[in-house]
Amino acid sequence: MAPPGDVETFDRFARFYDLFPVPTHPKAIRRAIDGRGGLVVDLGGGTGKYTNRVVPDRARAAVVDASREMLRRAARRRLPTIQAGADRVPIRDGTVDTVLCTEAFHHFAGIQDAVLDEVARILKPDGMFLLEEPDPTRLLGRLMRWGEHVQGWDSRFHPPDVLVKMLEERFGKVLKTKSGLFTVLLVAERPRL
Ligand SMILES: C[S@@+](CC[C@H](N)C(=O)[O-])C[C@H]1O[C@@H](n2cnc3c(N)ncnc32)[C@H](O)[C@@H]1O
Repeated sequence: MAPPGDVETFDRFARFYDLFPVPTHPKAIRRAIDGRGGLVVDLGGGTGKYTNRVVPDRARAAVVDASREMLRRAARRRLPTIQAGADRVPIRDGTVDTVLCTEAFHHFAGIQDAVLDEVARILKPDGMFLLEEPDPTRLLGRLMRWGEHVQGWDSRFHPPDVLVKMLEERFGKVLKTKSGLFTVLLVAERPRL
């Protein structure tokens, strides 16, 4: 199946991607990951520039992305990579300690519910989900949304309270919400059955 339009654009612009600033909240994300151990899946992890920064031990990470060109760059960073759609991750049920998703969820338009189900499926009980997204209730977040729509991207942004509800449906409760200049970070855990 052909990848969604955004992915073709990421394939074309992969070589420039690392020139853009990294997402916010790196310290909070790194602290959360350090405190856990185990396998970290970076969903829509792209070139791995952020994975590299927040997962100190590369052997513990896997960058999952639909774009072959973005992943080629992640592989150059010696990060393990998996080319797959975020809604069909070839990883066994209940085997991942942390799923990280930064600046990517809005690109999963049309499959966002399926992606959240997939995150819940691969996480271990008590496994952690870290979701970082541009916040369209903030000026810079709105500008970003505008910029992506002008490019004709099919991105789908949600205000933080809507993201919280989406996560609560799968994970019971959101443990932490942290607002930044133009992004919001949500932390949730897969409940024990
Ligand atoms: C803005 S980049 C974010 C990359 C990285 N997480 C970061 O923070 O630097 C969005 C990434 O999502 C990927 N992506 C878009 N749609 C996808 C899908 N359906 N499945 C998997 N990856 C997808 C793109 O290829 C791209 O690498």
